[in-house]
Amino acid sequence: MKNLQFFVPRAGKINITDIDDDHIHIVAALDEVRQNMDNPEYRTIAKAREVATLLLKHFKDEERLMSDYKYPRLHQHMVHHDQALGNVFRILGACEMREEVNIEDLRDIFRIMIDDIFSADMAFSNYVLESKRHCSTN
Ligand SMILES: [Fe+2]
Ligand SMILES: [Fe+2]
Repeated sequence: MKNLQFFVPRAGKINITDIDDDHIHIVAALDEVRQNMDNPEYRTIAKAREVATLLLKHFKDEERLMSDYKYPRLHQHMVHHDQALGNVFRILGACEMREEVNIEDLRDIFRIMIDDIFSADMAFSNYVLESKRHCSTN
């Protein structure tokens, strides 16, 4: 199970380049932690924290973009981000306590990221698509 790579599935592409690039980059950073889990030279917990920092920044950038687009569900999306971050930091806190990151921790973090893409970012993507369609027909 340790060998299963983390990646953004093709269906998770939301067709907004900056956001898609971020998703790929952050999931790849998480996968780097997975690949190095057994490497004693690698500072696994610190690296996992760096991934959480990337995620935090991504969420803020995304929220800014949504605000630029006057996205009506911005508030709900922000709540989703807050909950996702809360869950990620709770997992990292538990890792700090036991001084170890295991594959289940990484998998849980991966699931949280993928969940934001599919259950929240996708709706924004559809909104952007709809508003572009509107602009071209009006
Ligand atoms: Fe996102
Ligand atoms: Fe999001």
